[in-house]
Amino acid sequence: MARPRVLVTRRWPAAVEARLSDIFDVRLNTADRPLTPTDFRAAIREYDAILPTVTDRIGAPALECDRPQTRILANYGVGYSHIDLNRVGQHGIVVTNTPDVLSECTADLAMTLLLMIARRAGEGEREIREGRWTGWRPTHLVGTKVSGKTLGIVGYGRIGQEMARRAHHGFGMKILAYNRSPVAPEILAQCNATQVDSIDELMPLCDFVSLHCPGGAQNRHLINSARLALMRPGAFLVNTARGEVIDEAALLHALWFETIGGAALDVFDGEPDINPQLVASDRLVMLPHLGSATREAREAMGFRVIDNLQDFFAGREPRDRVN
Ligand code: DGY
Repeated sequence: MARPRVLVTRRWPAAVEARLSDIFDVRLNTADRPLTPTDFRAAIREYDAILPTVTDRIGAPALECDRPQTRILANYGVGYSHIDLNRVGQHGIVVTNTPDVLSECTADLAMTLLLMIARRAGEGEREIREGRWTGWRPTHLVGTKVSGKTLGIVGYGRIGQEMARRAHHGFGMKILAYNRSPVAPEILAQCNATQVDSIDELMPLCDFVSLHCPGGAQNRHLINSARLALMRPGAFLVNTARGEVIDEAALLHALWFETIGGAALDVFDGEPDINPQLVASDRLVMLPHLGSATREAREAMGFRVIDNLQDFFAGREPRDRVN
């Protein structure tokens, strides 16, 4: 029987590409150039499976086709707000993602950002690299203590829970959780967390707020000027979820007028283009979407895609189907 034809839209870890090539009739993207909507339209006429990732916008322009050959989009990444599930569903295409395997590394990075903004690590590093450091002094780059403070987590899914674990068991932080659905008491108990009913209730109670909810239209500007205004004056906002979750204009306003202590972002609305005004703010730590960027997580994500593909082509329900 002919092997399924599979297109990988970006460069993947070598070990995963090798395994894919063993199993499927694979076209790799050795140049690592993102596909255009035109490329994508051509691909869904040709390949049985496409393996996209967060940089591939899969909406109406990419999906214009009466009878696609593609039967599965096996996404490399846990977030899938870049895929228009309605339109994909109209073509009968199955979509899968890669949960679990990146939760710990993404939470590690959220904790990195939290510590960096609280302890002014970005400012300190810039000072040394630019030759501006004049030596130790009691008033130099004084930051905010993290241990024992209150952390609010928006989105108490797998990554949110890993963040809570690090903050509570590593730093003795008190955990408040906001989640759309009720969180099981035994899950909350693992970090002695308390679930609150709304983000509005959460914001004024926290020294740090970390976002771990999905992106997409439903959560666009979930953190807006009204909610930023509810934060404590010295509080910090951390975002490793999706850029669109924060209204960046409102965030800039809060940073300029110092109504919050600062923010630490791994994701940006419209990335990789970054609002130049964000770059100018010293109350901001920024990383280029590194949440899952460890060798271990990136390989595990790829192997998880392979599991989903093998199940699908063997006629089994893929474990990570999202539509
Ligand atoms: C995801 O998986 O959705 C991340 O943003 C990339 O790891």
